[in-house]
Amino acid sequence: MYEHDVIVVGAGGAGLRAAIAAHEHGADVALVTKLHPVRSHTGAAEGGINAALHPEDSWELHAYDTMKGSDYLGDAPAVDTFAKEAPNEVIQLEHWGMPFSREEDGKVSQRPFGGLSHPRTTYAGAETGHHLLHTMYEQVVKRGIEVYEEWFVTRVAVTDHDDPEGRECHGVVGYEIKTGEIDGFYARNGVILATGGLGQAFDHTTNAIANTGDGQAMAYRAGAPMEDMEFVQFHPTTLPSTGVLISEGVRGEGGILYNEAEERFMFEYGYANNEGELASRDVVSRAELTQVNEGRGIEDEYVHLDMRHLGEERILDRLENILHLAEDFEGVDGLEEPMPVKPGQHYQMGGIEVNEHGESCIDGLYAAGECACVSLHGANRLGGNALPELLVFGARAGRHAAGADMDDPLIPTGPDAESEPGDVELPVEPGIVADASDPVAADGGAVATPEAVLEDAIETERERVETLLERDGINHADVRAKVQETMTENVNVFRQEGNLKQALRDIRESRELYQDVAVSDPSRTYNTDLIHTIETRNVIDCAEAIALGALAREEFRGAHWRQQYQERRDDEWLKHTLLAWEDGTPRLYYKPVVLEGHEQTYEPKERSY
Ligand code: FUM
Repeated sequence: MYEHDVIVVGAGGAGLRAAIAAHEHGADVALVTKLHPVRSHTGAAEGGINAALHPEDSWELHAYDTMKGSDYLGDAPAVDTFAKEAPNEVIQLEHWGMPFSREEDGKVSQRPFGGLSHPRTTYAGAETGHHLLHTMYEQVVKRGIEVYEEWFVTRVAVTDHDDPEGRECHGVVGYEIKTGEIDGFYARNGVILATGGLGQAFDHTTNAIANTGDGQAMAYRAGAPMEDMEFVQFHPTTLPSTGVLISEGVRGEGGILYNEAEERFMFEYGYANNEGELASRDVVSRAELTQVNEGRGIEDEYVHLDMRHLGEERILDRLENILHLAEDFEGVDGLEEPMPVKPGQHYQMGGIEVNEHGESCIDGLYAAGECACVSLHGANRLGGNALPELLVFGARAGRHAAGADMDDPLIPTGPDAESEPGDVELPVEPGIVADASDPVAADGGAVATPEAVLEDAIETERERVETLLERDGINHADVRAKVQETMTENVNVFRQEGNLKQALRDIRESRELYQDVAVSDPSRTYNTDLIHTIETRNVIDCAEAIALGALAREEFRGAHWRQQYQERRDDEWLKHTLLAWEDGTPRLYYKPVVLEGHEQTYEPKERSY
């Protein structure tokens, strides 16, 4: 067993930033990560990092844009904290050597991005995340922070208590990919989950193969509620054949969207008469799909994104990476032709419920970055707000876990925050299937006494892996594909009651099939079949939470469009959706949105761009 003060799970932007902050506050910290740190999915972030740096800009404006972008489902203390702390985080990055793109006078460049009232997106070409990861990893190496790389964490070890708020987290269990060893990481102070997104719940996504919602699912099964899972971001510009991201930076620099008739449809059809292509992502994705559904798409599938008029020099200076992506993954020369694009799953606004310090309701269990929901992005995230989020809230979680003195949080978490129970008619039972003693498919999350908690968790995981390796059964890939297909078909940009119910039925069948999964490769080393099989359970839990939340929320807010409910319904739905895993079954309840922050209060307004 390994032992440290703070265990950070995941070494993308949030994990690296959390580890650096915890280390700076004197903690013995370790990163435990499924991938080599610089292979983390943060590296795929292209467009940039929002921060109010310019004298004519302000954190208040950034906060306002973020709250408007969230369709008033962001929590004000999170929004204000984020907008205020983002500039210092960006300056810190610059001091660490981040190679930001610059103006002729040497100042860091900032470009326009969707939904922003000021050009405040700093960037490094169109490969900002790649440089951010390398810059922070250097700082981790410099500080001698221990990194357990290619260790796949499969379980958080928490004490047994009926009320999740009475539970404590003492560490995690990991599987070392290169040896097959299963061991525990004891955390003296706390565990920070920073495992990223869950795009593999869909079959057309910008997310990497590793983004399987591991942190969300582990925390959920251990008793930390999932918040606002129905809010999924579909990025408007992904390549049709692969889902590869074409950065919003293209539109930020002046790229234009056209339909088959070469109409600039964002204006021609009045989707966003002021901002056009730079409306927020939910608005642009709906506009594109409406064009396709009404017969004005190209090949009935996509629209065109044209950047030719920007000129070769500017494209090579600011968007060179986009040329390579379009050429390599779609065979299109962006200097000569428009690029085909369509919406694709990109980001999960919902996640593990936490407060401004990254604390979940389980003592010692934190989350930061995309796997967490603080709630900053509410119903829709603005482009360029993910990277500063992982810096600001990664650092805050790291500091708090290291024992730093911080103000009392204003965002409530856990069952005590409940304002009303949920009520939704489901077509099938959600949650675990039948046999709770099956080591492969079932577990309630909380086990044993505080002293034995990690040992028990290690044993449970060893038994699970042995069973998967030894028994005969079906391959997980068919189960995962079934989930991905139904999520893409039924829980996409446009949502209808019948489709959401169909998704829940399909997910139920997938759970039943998962009862019989087995791993045919008996190898103990680099057994990717085993890893993907374990991940698929996480994909199922996350997909079910998304579909369930989407069926329950009877309104149209941000990225959540419902055919039957064409309006935002603040009177009834200005509240967060929570799902708590109770004895293997999700329980739905709500808590109010916090619109009063440390310094400003927000009034929901009509949202147009
Ligand atoms: O379009 C992009 O470059 C993505 C940015 C983001 O998701 O924040």
